[in-house]
Parts: sequence; C-alpha cells; structure tokens
Amino acid sequence: CGIVGIIGHEFKVAELIEGLKKLEYRGYDSAGIAATNGSQLIVTKSVGRVDSLKAVIEEEKVVRSGIAHTRWATHGTPNDTNAHPHTDCSGKIAVVHNGIIENYQELKTELIKRGHKFKSETDTEVISHLIEENFKGDLFQAVLDTLKILKGAFAIAVIHSDIPNVMIGARKGSPLVVGCNDKYCVLASDVTPIIKYTRDVIFLEDGDVVYIEGNKIKITDFSGNTLIRKHTHITWDESAAEKGGFKHFMLKEIHEIPEAIESALVGRIDSNYTPSLHELDEFNLERVKRILLVACGTSYHAGLVFKYFAEKYLDVDVLIDVASEFRYRPIRITEDTITIAISQSGETADTLESVRAVKKAGGKVIAISNVVGSTITRESDVTLYMNAGPEIGVAASKTYVNQLILLYLLGLYIIKKRGLWNQEHREIVKQIVESPKTLKGIITNKEIENVADNYKNYHHFMYIGRGINTATALEGALKLKEISYINAVGYPAGELKHGPIALLDPKFPVFAFVPKDSLYEKMRSNIEETRARNARIVAVATQGDEEIKKIAHDVIYVPEAHEDLYPLIFAPVIQLFAYHIADKRGYDPDKPRNLAKSVTVE
Ligand code: G6P
Repeated sequence: CGIVGIIGHEFKVAELIEGLKKLEYRGYDSAGIAATNGSQLIVTKSVGRVDSLKAVIEEEKVVRSGIAHTRWATHGTPNDTNAHPHTDCSGKIAVVHNGIIENYQELKTELIKRGHKFKSETDTEVISHLIEENFKGDLFQAVLDTLKILKGAFAIAVIHSDIPNVMIGARKGSPLVVGCNDKYCVLASDVTPIIKYTRDVIFLEDGDVVYIEGNKIKITDFSGNTLIRKHTHITWDESAAEKGGFKHFMLKEIHEIPEAIESALVGRIDSNYTPSLHELDEFNLERVKRILLVACGTSYHAGLVFKYFAEKYLDVDVLIDVASEFRYRPIRITEDTITIAISQSGETADTLESVRAVKKAGGKVIAISNVVGSTITRESDVTLYMNAGPEIGVAASKTYVNQLILLYLLGLYIIKKRGLWNQEHREIVKQIVESPKTLKGIITNKEIENVADNYKNYHHFMYIGRGINTATALEGALKLKEISYINAVGYPAGELKHGPIALLDPKFPVFAFVPKDSLYEKMRSNIEETRARNARIVAVATQGDEEIKKIAHDVIYVPEAHEDLYPLIFAPVIQLFAYHIADKRGYDPDKPRNLAKSVTVE
C-alpha cells in the first residue's frame, strides 16, 4: 500500500491526488483521502485506481492537512468501505495504514464490547477506534498509547479534524519517509511524492514516531523519547525514486524478498515454531490422501516444490499439472481429495477454469494468491494470501518466494494435523523464520552479477537439478528465457543421458544446483558428465564445498540449509542471474516481449 500525508499552509486536495498517483505502483485496488480545514473531516474513497478517486473528489477544495492511501488489500475485499482512510465513531480521527495488524481480531472484539461500531472488514479500522479510546485531548499521547497495543507490521499516518495543524506518523516494519520545506511537511511510503516539496528527507526507522506540527517535526520512540535521525539528500529522479533507487522494478522486488517473507509469516507461526494456518482450520486436512495441484508458469514450479516436500513427509499422492492441461482432462475427486490452485494474480484464465472444473466435480479448492478479492479467491473455498505486496515486474520474483513459503507452511501444517510433527519439522520452520536474514545475504552477494557477466553472450543454457531442485532447474530456465531471450532448458539431472546431453558443447553452458544434500554425489556425477562434453559449468553450491571448484568453472555459494529448503535459498540466485544477464544484454527485464503479468486469455 502507499501512504501520503500533507500538512502546513493551506493546499488543494489535488496535491494529495498527485502524491497518490506517484505511489500507485504500490497498490491500486482502491484509494481514498481524508482531509480537514479545521471544521470537519472530509473523507472520500473509491474502489479502483487513483483516477476513479480523482473523478469523484473535489480536487479544488482547500484544506490544511490530509492523508491519502492507495491500497493493496490484505484483509477485506477491495471496495469503497474497506478502502482507507478509516475513521473512529466520532468521525474526527482518520488513519491510513500500510502493513498488517496481527492482533486485530482480539482488539476488534474488545472494542465492539465497549460499544465501538465498525464499518469495514479491515484490520486498520481498529487503529482509529483505539486512538479514539485513548484520546483525552492529546492526539500524540493517544497514538503512542495505541502503538503499544498493536502487533504486526505497519506504517500509519493519523489526523484529527479539530487539530488541523497536527499529523502523526509511525513505523514498525513498513517504510515511512518525511520531508519538510518552509511551508509544508509531507509524510509518505517513499520519496516520490516528497521530491516536489523537498529533496531533504528522513527515512524513519522501525519503532519511530513522527509528530508533525505545521512544518516542524519531532521524532520519538513509541514511549515518546526524542530521537535524532539523519537527513538524506535525494539525488534520484522520480522514475528511479519509485523503484527505490533500483534500475528496474524486478531488481527492487528481488530486494524486497526479505520483507515479503516477513509479511507472509505474520500470524502464521506459533510459539515453539509450529505453523498455524487458521484459514484452514475448518478443513479436514488430516484425512486427505490425494492432493491435486494446478497452476501456470512460475506458480507451477512452486507447486512442484510442494509435491516433493509433501510426498516426502506425508502419506499423500500429489498430482500436479499445468492448468492448460489439467482442465481438459478427466478430474477424479474422491472424499479425501483436495485441490490447491496457485495463482499470484488470481486471474489466470486456465487456472480459473481448472478451479471451476474441480468445483463442478464436487471438489474443494484451496487457493494461494497475492491479490485479495481476485477471481480465484472468490471462487475457491478458502485462500491463503501471499501478502507479498504488488509485483510490477512481469517475471515473478518475490511472489515465487512467498508461494514457496506458504506451500512449505501448508505442508508442515498438514504434518502437524496428522500428528507426525517432530524435531526436524520444527527445525525447518525455524529456518523459514530466519530465511529473511539468510536471503538478504544472498541478494547482496555481488558474485551472482560477476558470474552473469561471464555468460551474457551465450545463446543457450541448460539448468539441471535433482529431487526438489528439479523445480529450481525448471524455474531457473524459465526466468532466463523469459527476460533474456536465451534458449534455456531445465531438466532433472538424471535425464541428461536420455537426450539433452547431446546438445552440450563449449557453446552450451550448464547451470547446476548442487547443494550438500542426500543427492549430492549423484549430482556431482551428472556435472562430471557435462564437463566431459566440454560444457562450461556454473555450480550453485553450499558454502564450504571446496571440491566443487575442481569441476565447475564458476561457483556461486549459498549458506547451508535444510535440504528441502534449497529451492527457497536458490530462488534469489536464479532471479538475479537472469536479471543481470537480461540487463547486460540491453533488455528491459520489467517488460519482456510477448509476455503479460496476468494472462486472462486461454
Ligand atoms: C504469466 C506470468 C508468469 C506467471 C504466470 C502465472 O505467464 O508472466 O510470471 O508465473 O502468468 O501467473 P499467476 O498469476 O497465475 O501466478
């Protein structure tokens, strides 16, 4: 979601709209503005993009403070009521929020008992009501008291119609930036709406509160103790600024992976590292014997990882197919069958038709999607939301990672339900919880770009892996071909000898996934086979494996992990490798030719 707030001298509502337009890449299912000139709070919201809001709002209206929001839903379908800002019972306090309030259900129940009336299904609305409860004439204190109760990740901005010269912002886990000139202060999710006013900004840190009065600011912690934060001078132009200073959205989105994982995990891990997917509590997953998995493209590869994972620990058969095939084949649904449909966009035509076919045959569908309110979420029985935030780059990056996270959690949740839980599973969850930090280290590994530079001029590439990393090989090849237009194929390494090895020569390099897992020796032999055909080899291996250097021409090392988690560990490697090759070849990785982000045709 995107937040912008403006305060200081009088200004026109059009300024807020202009700010929102710059943040639209952060979310675009609905938008809204609350503003005041000191008498009353004017709130206007609209489902759809910022232009729909622009069409219904009085842009010429002069106000003294205002907050605005462009939404990417996490709780509650995109509609006018669920759009931000959210207000309290008095209609004087307005809040915009980016993030997830983990304990909102408990807070909401408590507030309802105390007579608060809620209008929306969002987690955000509890914030405005809590501030109302805590408000005794001092808005700053009321916000501090509220922040102490909130669990989860958030960035918020708050105004009160009786106090038009005050705005308060706070950050814990979601970004917030503030900048002031001699007339105005602007608070926003990133610098793009601020640049017009000033290039000197402060990036708030987690646990910071900003109190703005007119065009003066004070930064404190959640207890009100004053903090000193340094100013940053922004030299980026606006287009770079919306990409957070990165050259492309895809690169920015790869760098957002750690934050995206954190969001996917909010409220889904209990103490003692056990998964809790409350959405699925109604389902009899302990009895499931057959799992049908259906998806397209990258989502299909995430599903393939699940197949290996679930079949290893559970007494289930996982049948997986691409949606464009699945939907035309006979579908056998038994009492103990469940279908999982994975679609980042929630709008892929073939996946939707597959869901319809399963429903028609009497089956139950669990959807995994990143878009609240998308068609798949409406037509499935239940949805696990990925909470990755919008992804602009056509080739999936952070959404693939969040699909993996949810599918691992789903597998582990079924393991727990079946009473098969043991120490190894707890260790996997622990590593998943630590994965934002692990992946951050991989994402900042410059070696990936260096290796990409060595291979940018090749016309072919073969990706090989074994076991659960067969999926990684397929996804690695897909990533490379879709954005760099290099002919890349992915194979289970054991299949090489049945045909593909005939292709190899010095002009046909191999990208091999060779983690220290139970198939390590087999994988090494496969690499030797490719070396014997004089192919150049890039190996992605576990830190400390010095032996691999003797057979591979280039090695990218990753930290050691539980063997089933390597697809997660390798995800940023294949994404960055493909990204850098595409960029070095002069292509725009955000907009690959002939491809669309959401494929709504059959
Ligand atoms: C398109 C995109 C892919 C994506 C696939 C499935 O082909 O370019 O990146 O993996 O659709 O999309 P979905 O939204 O269903 O996950």
